[in-house]
Amino acid sequence: MEHDVCALADLPDGGKLRVDAGGEDVLLCRSSSDIRAVRNMCTHAASTLEEGRLRNGILSCPLHGARFDLSDGGRCLGGAGYRPLTLFPVRVADGRVLVTVEG
Ligand code: FES
Repeated sequence: MEHDVCALADLPDGGKLRVDAGGEDVLLCRSSSDIRAVRNMCTHAASTLEEGRLRNGILSCPLHGARFDLSDGGRCLGGAGYRPLTLFPVRVADGRVLVTVEG
C-alpha cells in the first residue's frame, strides 16, 4: 500500500528524514533528485539508522559503522557481509513523497 509520508520540501538534498509509512519505521535518504526509502533498522543488530552518516548514497550505521549502498539495493560494502538493507518503492508526485510498503 502506498503512503504519503511527507512533503518533498521536508527532505533536504543530502539529508535524511525518519517517517512512518503505515506503521513501518522508514528512513528517507536524499542525494540530489535520488530518493531512497529504507527500513530504519540495521541488518547487523538492533540499531536504527537515522543517526548514521549519508554520503554519496552510502548510508553508514551509527553503531558499528557498516556501510550500505542505497543505489545498489542496500548492499553492505566492505568485508562485514551483513544482509542488504530493506528498501521500499518510493516516488514523488505533486511535491509529496510516497512510499509503498506491503500490507
Ligand atoms: S548494528 Fe549496524 S553495524 Fe552493527
